Amino acid sequence: MRRPFIAGNWKMHKTIREAVDFAQHLIIVCGQSTERRVVLAPPFTTLSAVAEALRGSTIHLSAQNLHDKPAGAYTGEISAKMLVDTGCEYVIVGHSERRTLFGEKNDFINQKLKSSISFGLRPIFCIGETLKERDEGQTFAVVEEQIKEGLNNLSTDDITHTVIAYEPVWAIGTGRTAAPEQAQEAHAYIRDVMKKIYGEHISGNIAIIYGGSVNPDNISGLMAQPDIDGVLVGGASLDLESFIRIIQF
Ligand code: PGA
Repeated sequence: MRRPFIAGNWKMHKTIREAVDFAQHLIIVCGQSTERRVVLAPPFTTLSAVAEALRGSTIHLSAQNLHDKPAGAYTGEISAKMLVDTGCEYVIVGHSERRTLFGEKNDFINQKLKSSISFGLRPIFCIGETLKERDEGQTFAVVEEQIKEGLNNLSTDDITHTVIAYEPVWAIGTGRTAAPEQAQEAHAYIRDVMKKIYGEHISGNIAIIYGGSVNPDNISGLMAQPDIDGVLVGGASLDLESFIRIIQF
C-alpha cells in the first residue's frame, strides 16, 4: 500500500520568521500524522530554522534544488552534503522551473540525482511535458526520455527512495490542473516505464505524485486515481489553511 505523499514547494517565498511560524502551526494540526507523508520544501535560507521547528514531528523537510558536486568553486550553489547538514531528508530535482528558466538538462539532473542519493537524500524527481509537446502528441515520449536519461545508471537500490513527480508544465502555476483521468493516464504510463526498467517490485512501490495547480477543491479527484500517490503543491501550499485542507483531503 503506497501512503499518500503530500509535499509543499514554497519556491522563492517566505522569510525565516514566516516559514517557522507556518511550520509551528502546521505541526499542531498534523505534526503526528503517520497515515500521510507530509513534506515541506522551503527556501534554502530557512531550512535550518524549519528543521528545528519540525523536530519531534512526523513532517519531513526537503530542499528545492542542489548542485551535483559535493564541494568546490561553484559560487551561489548548495551541495547535497550541506542539505543533509541542515536536516533535509528530501530534495526536489529537475523541477520544470529549473529546466526552463535555468536551462537544466537531463544529464545534469542525472548527476544531481546521483549526488543526492549518494549522500542519503531522497530525491523528488520532476518530469513533465510542455503544452506544445502535449499538443503534438509527444507526452509519453517526453516523459519516457526524461525518466531514462534522468535515471541513467541508477540501480534498483539507488531508486528505492526516489519519488517521481509528474508535473505537466502547462499546469504549473496556471490554475489549469490536468483532469484526474489525464493525470492518471500519464502516471500509469510512468509506472509502466519504471516496470520495464526496474521490474514489478519497484514500479509497484515507487510513489508517483502529481503537481500542477493542486488545490483543496481538486485534491480528492486526483487522489482517487489508482496511480496518483500524492501531490507536489506550489501556490496552494503557501497558505496554512489551504495546505491543511489538501493534507486532510
Ligand atoms: P503550483 O506549482 O501548485 O503552483 O502549480 C506546483 C509546482 O511547481 O510544484
